[in-house]
Amino acid sequence: MRIKVLGGTGYAGSHIVREAVARGHQVTSYSRSLPEAPVEGAVYRTGNVLDDAFLTEAVADTDAVFEALSPRGELEGKLEGVRDRLIPLAAKAGVRLGILAGASSLHVAPGGPRLLDVRPPAPEIRGEVMTGVTLLETLRDSPEELDWFAVSPAASFGAWVPGEATGAYRVSQDVLLVDENGDSKISGADLALAVVDELEAPAHRRRRFHVAY
Ligand SMILES: NC(=O)c1ccc[n+]([C@@H]2O[C@H](COP(=O)([O-])OP(=O)(O)OC[C@H]3O[C@@H](n4cnc5c(N)ncnc54)[C@H](OP(=O)(O)O)[C@@H]3O)[C@@H](O)[C@H]2O)c1
Repeated sequence: MRIKVLGGTGYAGSHIVREAVARGHQVTSYSRSLPEAPVEGAVYRTGNVLDDAFLTEAVADTDAVFEALSPRGELEGKLEGVRDRLIPLAAKAGVRLGILAGASSLHVAPGGPRLLDVRPPAPEIRGEVMTGVTLLETLRDSPEELDWFAVSPAASFGAWVPGEATGAYRVSQDVLLVDENGDSKISGADLALAVVDELEAPAHRRRRFHVAY
């Protein structure tokens, strides 16, 4: 497949680029700067997703786009607008669109409250958390012809808790998964397995799914 990864040099994005290249896909990453440790075989394009021409290029000539940008720094308060633009571009091009969401909108039990409600985010990350929550509403309201999926990682996921590649993961729809110790965790490498598995064999069309141990 031809796969484009927006934010393919970030924590999540670089794991996805690495996994997709390892499986023989043609992968192009989009970010403002080049990575310190590029994945051999991947193509790196530099530019700003706030530039419409760059975003349009990222959705052209591909089978799938995976968006792994983060609403931090320059994109704080602006990632919603990038997604509002990405959705019609992908729908028009007939390109499958995957987006990395957050864990906070997951329910802690079937029919139960959301993680966000039982464990309110610290003020400094509330904006990022709410961007993830809004994303699901935006995708659910998107044009019927858009083939989208969203992935919510475990609550403990990120560059500060990289974990290890175990080759295993579990999937649920909207309910938070916890391991035998009651922890919600997934490594970057194992999250990437789940994303590339979904790209290769779509099992969640126009749905969010959750990946954890
Ligand atoms: N447990 C959870 O729910 C959880 C935990 C962690 C992350 N997340 C979510 O996962 C997503 C990815 O997070 P992450 O930690 O992997 O992000 P990250 O490491 O900060 O990576 C962000 C990527 O976006 C690129 N980027 C940033 N601004 C850009 C711009 N204006 N134009 C083009 N590229 C730009 C960055 O490269 P350049 O800087 O070179 O442009 C980088 O490749 C986020 O939506 C985050 O909220 C969820």
